[in-house]
Amino acid sequence: MNREKSYKLFERAKKIIPGGVNSPVRSFISVNGTPFYVEKAKGAYLFDIDGNRYLDYVASFGAIILGHADPGLVAEVKKALDEGTSYGACHPYEVELAQRIISAFPSIELLRLTNSGTEATMSAIRLARGFTGRKNIVKFRGAYHGHADFLLTSGGSGMAEMSQPESRGVLEEHVRNTFVADFNNIDSVWRIVKQQRDIAAIIVEPIMGNMGVILPKANFLRELESICKENGILLIFDEVITGFRVTYGGAQTIFGIDPHITCLGKIIGGGFPVGAFGGKREIMECISPLGGVYQAGTLSGNPVAVRAGLYVLKYLEEHKEAYTYLSEKVNLIMEETEKFAKRYRIPYTVNGICGMFSGFFTEREVDDYESAKSSDRRMYEKFFKLMLDSGIFFPPSPFEASFLTLSHGEEEIAFTIEAYEKVFKRLSS
Ligand SMILES: Cc1ncc(COP(=O)(O)O)c(C=O)c1O
Repeated sequence: MNREKSYKLFERAKKIIPGGVNSPVRSFISVNGTPFYVEKAKGAYLFDIDGNRYLDYVASFGAIILGHADPGLVAEVKKALDEGTSYGACHPYEVELAQRIISAFPSIELLRLTNSGTEATMSAIRLARGFTGRKNIVKFRGAYHGHADFLLTSGGSGMAEMSQPESRGVLEEHVRNTFVADFNNIDSVWRIVKQQRDIAAIIVEPIMGNMGVILPKANFLRELESICKENGILLIFDEVITGFRVTYGGAQTIFGIDPHITCLGKIIGGGFPVGAFGGKREIMECISPLGGVYQAGTLSGNPVAVRAGLYVLKYLEEHKEAYTYLSEKVNLIMEETEKFAKRYRIPYTVNGICGMFSGFFTEREVDDYESAKSSDRRMYEKFFKLMLDSGIFFPPSPFEASFLTLSHGEEEIAFTIEAYEKVFKRLSS
């Protein structure tokens, strides 16, 4: 596959943009590769500037669910553009979007829109601290909640639960109040809760999506909910990925959990920059202008982004069978790839749920950060490159989830499964 124009453009980009990219994973650094440049996207496909076509399993890291350039969505956005791109004043569509999200998520009574998932989680933590008057927070090892300083942490090596900055520029004092537990290990949460009295919130991706897809074990989320209730801690569900992906109403609907605050993003903007956080009335009323927790945004509730998101949510509500379709297709990919892995003796574990999945090159069950890390990174790199050369774009990192859209039809799924067989065969030789 010739990618000369992309290679040249990347060289140029590197001279003027850090690493050539506006978000690190796009640089293909984790797979020792060079990114391609997209000229356009349509349905399940991306088309690069060299004329290559890729079946897309990145789907803007989960933001796209209908497929690229969906005609209905494009028409709605064009209408919105004609009516102005930003007002700095209220408009009816933001009320309609909030209403629609609130109807889908019984745990949300009031909702505030932001411009990104990062803003949503950052604001949710500020709110939790403001509401409870407590300072500590708990997150899970390997979880990603955006790039706010106090969430850019991982577990420290010496004292397991004390966290350390995960990025230069994040000060120890920024993460001093962030404690790190292990996903699917309720004892690790208990240990922190017993030692640290002053916990405002526990933030969790109810289905992990940032160390590959990892499902919660039976009762893990329920126990988390109980710990929070018993100790006056707010439970924050980060459903930026899972929000309208795993079902209409998110992971909390599937698992029957009632978090205090929910963070959303990606799908609710239909491919435009959007985030949201919402929750119980009493808590959300602490947000400015009602309460003393400040939160704002020039472009928050942007009319174009909101109308795009609204279009997608309306579609999903009217076509709930979409989720059955996405589930069936993910299950099929999981079953077939497991068969190929056995046939070609590839160490392989695959996790997935409606519209998202991850294959790990390990024999271990993957249920936490440690087991996810046991995936063979070099093998993922080979897999990624072979797939890309077959015309299929998987995430350029072993720890990003793969996403399906409703434009991934029978033909695309069959093509993917065939490619898996060929690539696994090559990996085994
Ligand atoms: C679970 C989760 N939370 C928060 C974020 C941050 O969202 P954004 O990139 O829109 O700031 C992400 C981004 O991938 C995410 O996956």
